[in-house]
Amino acid sequence: MLKIPESTTRDDIVAIVERHGADRTSLIPILQDVKTAEHEISDEAMQIVADLLGIHPVEVYSVATFYAFLHGATEGRYVVRLCGTLSCDFAGKTAVAEALRSALGIDFGATTDDGVFTLEWASCVGMCDQGPALLVNDRVFTRVTPEKVAEIVAQYRGKAADDARQDIVTARNELTYASIAAGAGLKAALALPRGDIVDTVSGAALKGRGGAGFPTGMKWNFCAAEKSEHKYIICNADEGEPGTFKDRVILRDFADLVFEGMTIGGRAIGASMGIVYLRAEYAYLRAHLNDVIHQRREAGLLGANIGGIEGFDFDIVVARGAGAYVCGEETALIESLEGFRGEPRNRPPFPAVAGFLNHPTVVNNVETLASVACIFAKGTDWFKGFGTDKSTGYKLFSISGDCEKPGVYEFPWGITIADLLKEVGGGGAKAVQIGGASGVCVPARDFARRLAFEDIPTGGSVMVIGPQRDLLDVAENFLEFFVEESCGQCTPCRLGNAQLLDGVELLKSGACSAAHLADLKALGATMQVAAKCGLGQTSPSAFLSIVGAFADDVTTRPQRA
Ligand SMILES: Cc1cc2nc3c(=O)[nH]c(=O)nc-3n(C[C@H](O)[C@H](O)[C@H](O)COP(=O)(O)O)c2cc1C
Ligand code: SF4
Repeated sequence: MLKIPESTTRDDIVAIVERHGADRTSLIPILQDVKTAEHEISDEAMQIVADLLGIHPVEVYSVATFYAFLHGATEGRYVVRLCGTLSCDFAGKTAVAEALRSALGIDFGATTDDGVFTLEWASCVGMCDQGPALLVNDRVFTRVTPEKVAEIVAQYRGKAADDARQDIVTARNELTYASIAAGAGLKAALALPRGDIVDTVSGAALKGRGGAGFPTGMKWNFCAAEKSEHKYIICNADEGEPGTFKDRVILRDFADLVFEGMTIGGRAIGASMGIVYLRAEYAYLRAHLNDVIHQRREAGLLGANIGGIEGFDFDIVVARGAGAYVCGEETALIESLEGFRGEPRNRPPFPAVAGFLNHPTVVNNVETLASVACIFAKGTDWFKGFGTDKSTGYKLFSISGDCEKPGVYEFPWGITIADLLKEVGGGGAKAVQIGGASGVCVPARDFARRLAFEDIPTGGSVMVIGPQRDLLDVAENFLEFFVEESCGQCTPCRLGNAQLLDGVELLKSGACSAAHLADLKALGATMQVAAKCGLGQTSPSAFLSIVGAFADDVTTRPQRA
């Protein structure tokens, strides 16, 4: 039973609800503010919120307990979240975890007696090139060492934490975005009839940069064809895939291009509202994004009659995620925006037909939208001059792990893994994990393969795995992540990931029989087709590629006593 804090007053919560509006879509922002104000979401608070929104308290409870940044339990004034992802592991996370335990005198999942600090794990904070990384509330600390832990804790104890933020810019080579004049893409697009805007995007053969590579023009066409009074375009800035952090750089350095892409998309499909779904771990970007939106409104680039086009009204708001990787999946994202648990929907209908609030909705990745602005600024021929026939343009890659120069890089599609490793100082790698935890592990003998939709498709994450690493540790890290992040709706994913994780433990201890390994492979293959959404369909990929490509290595462990 949760403790009811004495400080919780009905008046405080009424004020929060009034600020956001007594509407189901406001439930998550309301709970976020209650949590910030009270450091917990008590039973009493849930009851009051439920009354005000006219829903059952169980519905509030089910949402509050779904999201990592919301769960009801009492937290300290400062919540320290250490990133648990593979790159932070490689960079020395274990020593930092120990230093945190010792400096705070508590274990993970606990709060100090004075109520000042709570210590937690985070699945991935999107700082994979600068690990080990941690968040203290919404401030990010990178390249943390055990010595730095003492400094950070002292800073917060001394309440001198305001200037504690790190430099988080990480682009490593010149990005094309830097050469695009602000406003050029939007101006060119608005000069075209609506149908021609979609044709231009189709003509550039732009494929979605979020991972699945769905043709953007086709998606826009589906949505444009729907008849509806309301339509939406959503920018997917959830970027929770371990090893992926390029959207963070785009949002910070090229937000104008993202908003231009959204505005162009709004014009093309007939939407008047754009929503950026920003992951909770990137809360520090929110003020910047709102500033850019404000400037665009002032400049007449958002609002009514944009570009002098009578009736073209379009505006953008930023919504905060609450800490759930699955909310990157577009239908889970929409559920979350509507104020529900981030549980993926059955498809069809697809969002382009029935998305946010049941209205036709386009969901695009941050990079896809920035690329749209570039295509209109520089033309389809220019864009198609990069990459391959089936994968046009250039791509941003998030490089982390065992290499000399981790960070965000731009390369044309079609680059070989070997060439990419040369650029980033990753010579000597024994494998690379492409596409994050849900991607595949590629052994050195296959480094001539190309990063492209027709060979190895990817949302851009490349984790370099050095010769000293144990591939079973890699599989273990990813499966722990999926066990934690599965929404639990369907059995293949909820139980399958846990069973694969048990299997990895058996392999590590040398106690996994050949017959059991065969069963595990069959289980992984079943999950790929039977899980309800992309999370469970892709979560066995790393395991299957590791036990496939490194069979000799993973099956020859000496049996532990
Ligand atoms: C578990 C899961 C997580 C995802 N996370 C993201 C994400 O963080 N960002 C993203 O753009 N797409 C993510 N996707 C893909 C989205 O569902 C969707 O395909 C994408 O946002 C569409 O944009 P695009 O066509 O521009 O790539 C995820 C998919 C799954 C299954
Ligand atoms: S595959 Fe996993 S994340 Fe997706 S619906 Fe099933 S349980 Fe939820």
